[in-house]
Amino acid sequence: MGVIVAERKTVRYAHVAGWGKYVPTKVVTNEDLSKSVETSDEWIVSRTGIRERRIAASPKETTATMSFEAARQALQVAGVAPNDLGLIIVATATPEYSFPATACVVQDMLGAENAGAFDLSAGCSGFMYALAMGAQAIASGAQSHVLVIGAETLSRIVNWHDRETCVLFGDGAGAVVLQGSDEPGGVLSTLLRADGSGGELLIVPAGGSHQPPTLDTVATGQHYVRMNGREVFRFATRVMDEATRKVVADAGLTLEDVDLFIPHQANLRIIQAAVRALKMPMDKFFVNLDRYGNTSAASIPIALCEAVDAGRIKPGDHLVMVGFGAGLTWAASVIQWGVPKPPVPAWRRTLDGLRYVAAGVRSRARRLRRRLGAVLFGSPEPRTIDEGAHRPERVTEGKLHADAAPRTTDEGMPRTEPESLAAPPVEEPRAE
Ligand code: UT7
Repeated sequence: MGVIVAERKTVRYAHVAGWGKYVPTKVVTNEDLSKSVETSDEWIVSRTGIRERRIAASPKETTATMSFEAARQALQVAGVAPNDLGLIIVATATPEYSFPATACVVQDMLGAENAGAFDLSAGCSGFMYALAMGAQAIASGAQSHVLVIGAETLSRIVNWHDRETCVLFGDGAGAVVLQGSDEPGGVLSTLLRADGSGGELLIVPAGGSHQPPTLDTVATGQHYVRMNGREVFRFATRVMDEATRKVVADAGLTLEDVDLFIPHQANLRIIQAAVRALKMPMDKFFVNLDRYGNTSAASIPIALCEAVDAGRIKPGDHLVMVGFGAGLTWAASVIQWGVPKPPVPAWRRTLDGLRYVAAGVRSRARRLRRRLGAVLFGSPEPRTIDEGAHRPERVTEGKLHADAAPRTTDEGMPRTEPESLAAPPVEEPRAE
């Protein structure tokens, strides 16, 4: 019997070669919120550490457009072209659509012609899960460049009348480009965990297949985030400490070797509890939740970008990133930071800008070609009995639904344009 031996590529190190973030310009302070719900700056700051958050006030700011902005920065820092990407992963709890995946929308906006793309749902741990997937794809030799994004538009699934949740969350996106290299370093270890028995502690109850959206689910607000804050708090303080110790040991390091901890930015008290449990100084923990609140899957990559900008990360440093959230899920990673990149020349930025314009033209041309194809040649006829069985008119036994008529999918999904989000129109958050 013949044995098929797959071609093995050498195991490589996954380095963070680029990073980028986008946060909406609209700032909503605690004071602003105290005008619409019964809360106060004093309560929010003392219980969470949050002072303000960014809200996607412009309809142009969506999970995909914010992801695109973060991604283009990350690609520019890495000096990597969209066509070099083999994989795009978007971790989000607030995707652009149920399907197609937000990652596919981003792939189209970037014009990343050689990339596979999928979304990853692991709540606030999503970015850490996606980072692990990306790093493993590189370590296996399957990929050379992976774009990992954490992005959220939580303001659109938060009940702005529920003071127990609306004060906590914010919007934004962060991205990294992982690059394969033979140089030791990069992602040294990862840890992924889940406990689905705690799923109902942090949940959007309706809108999925368990409870499809109806007038009733909307009237009773079941399409909004529901959270048992105290239980999530208890869970978070327990797992942060355990996960950090384990992932550091797996990297062959001790806690003293860690130069910077970048925890999920949910609540300052949770971070302080981790500081106490790990017996580490507070100044080794990066905190920016006072300005952004909890941006779920975006919180760690946004914090990473700000830590780099603040000069808190030097080549060779060991970082620990640890997240927790809906699922319940938790995840951690140790990274050894790579070598500094030369600054990106101006011509390169211009070229990148043109590249995204070309991606837009290509995308529109493809949509047009599909439409013309449908008009000129119609829908393909079923060639086998099985294929025919899936046609809507057979399923409904001759009673053809008005909207079951063949359509192009483009009718329902306009292309998301990668135009600049730099100065979105400022509107009030939907907190009336
Ligand atoms: O990314 C992962 C997702 N989530 C988290 O990490 C959240 C984890 N949990 C937490 O951060 C905290 O549990 C909260 C910040 C959500 C709440 O803090 P807490 O110290 O656990 O407060 P609590 O839930 O025990 O509530 C204390 C009181 C309650 O009133 P009573 O029952 O004592 O009269 C709440 O109704 O505070 C009240 N309260 C508020 N008061 C003013 C709850 N929210 C507010 C508010 N303003 N916004």
